[in-house]
Amino acid sequence: MKIAIYGLWIFNLLLVSLAVQAQKFENLAPTPPMGWNSWNYFKCDFNEELIKKVADAMSSNGMKAVGYEYIVIDDCWQVGRDKNGNIIPDPDKFPSGMKALADYIHSKGLKFGLYSDAGTKTCKGLPGSRGYEFQDARTYASWGVDFLKYDWCHHSTQDAKASYTLMRDALYKAGRPILFSICEWGENDPWLWAPEVGHMWRTGHDIKDCFNCDLNTSSQGVMQILDQQAVLRKYAGPNAWNDPDMLEVGNPGLTIAESRAHFSLWCMLSAPLIAGNDIIDMSPEIKKILIDKEVIAIDQDLLGIQAIKWLDYGDLEIWFKPLQNEEYAVCFLNRNEKEKTLNFDFNQWGKVFDPDKGWKKYTFDATYHIYDVWKKQHLGTSKTPLKATIPGHDVLLIKMSVKK
Ligand code: GLA
Repeated sequence: MKIAIYGLWIFNLLLVSLAVQAQKFENLAPTPPMGWNSWNYFKCDFNEELIKKVADAMSSNGMKAVGYEYIVIDDCWQVGRDKNGNIIPDPDKFPSGMKALADYIHSKGLKFGLYSDAGTKTCKGLPGSRGYEFQDARTYASWGVDFLKYDWCHHSTQDAKASYTLMRDALYKAGRPILFSICEWGENDPWLWAPEVGHMWRTGHDIKDCFNCDLNTSSQGVMQILDQQAVLRKYAGPNAWNDPDMLEVGNPGLTIAESRAHFSLWCMLSAPLIAGNDIIDMSPEIKKILIDKEVIAIDQDLLGIQAIKWLDYGDLEIWFKPLQNEEYAVCFLNRNEKEKTLNFDFNQWGKVFDPDKGWKKYTFDATYHIYDVWKKQHLGTSKTPLKATIPGHDVLLIKMSVKK
């Protein structure tokens, strides 16, 4: 009898400890995370001075004020492990150490992110976390890390869901709330398991600063990434976001119009807004794109509904995103290099079907005021056709509201 009671007790203890481990930190990403990451522009070329300048820039150039908060150091910060297995940051790049850098970033009212890999090595061949998950998570927590991007190079025969779940549990056990960003390039249908494991997951391979480019390599153009997103919308929502990859806004391969279109579409997709350009030295036009409050509000809308690809005319696509308070964002995307004349009659279309929510129907029975979100202009109402010219590789982004 006694043995049976003890047995039951141990079994319960086991269940409780499993239940404690089996969760991610909740509510760290009720809206899509916003921040900056070193990879897209700087690759491995950074050090603590640069990262501090990025923090200075973000806190003073208007980005922090509109919601950017994470400063994430991607691949190339780590060089090896000490004899106890502790991960060693590159002493040349970070002579003051990671804790000091985290403190600096926190002192600016911002948050600190790092990168590691579920395999034995990172994509740049530096030490990964395989076999060191709990130890690394404790180290990150002791440094004051708030965000972990976890990559998928050198994973050999590892199972993706199990590998990411292991790190989730390690982070949870370490006790510091750390936003978990899963980066396995959409290879193992992460949308099916990642909502329980992390706060965001990459849906595909790496973005490149190229608008409409079928690169046929492990990186892809902005339009090619966009094309993969429509079918994934039903998996996204508060605390669990599809991540079509970091922003290329402001990087050399995109024109201003292309940067604007890219940013608008990522907002329509409720994508994490992780700037990937040199925010220390950016043009006023690019800064204007990155800090437009009203465009960002579309991304950060509390409903967290990823846009529906409503109409597709080849070169002209129309994306539709329901927002709070019976408002809608509509993005008219001109994929062609030449400008397009738009003459769009809401009365003719009258409704948008949401294929993923039991064919919910959004109708335009009421009179909606149309507002050009980039140009800050009212464009009449939904009762008269919307006429506009959309330059090549650009968008017309509107908000529809019953109240003006
Ligand atoms: C992979 C990721 C990128 C970046 C690099 C770093 O390619 O998908 O986002 O982190 O690794 O090496």
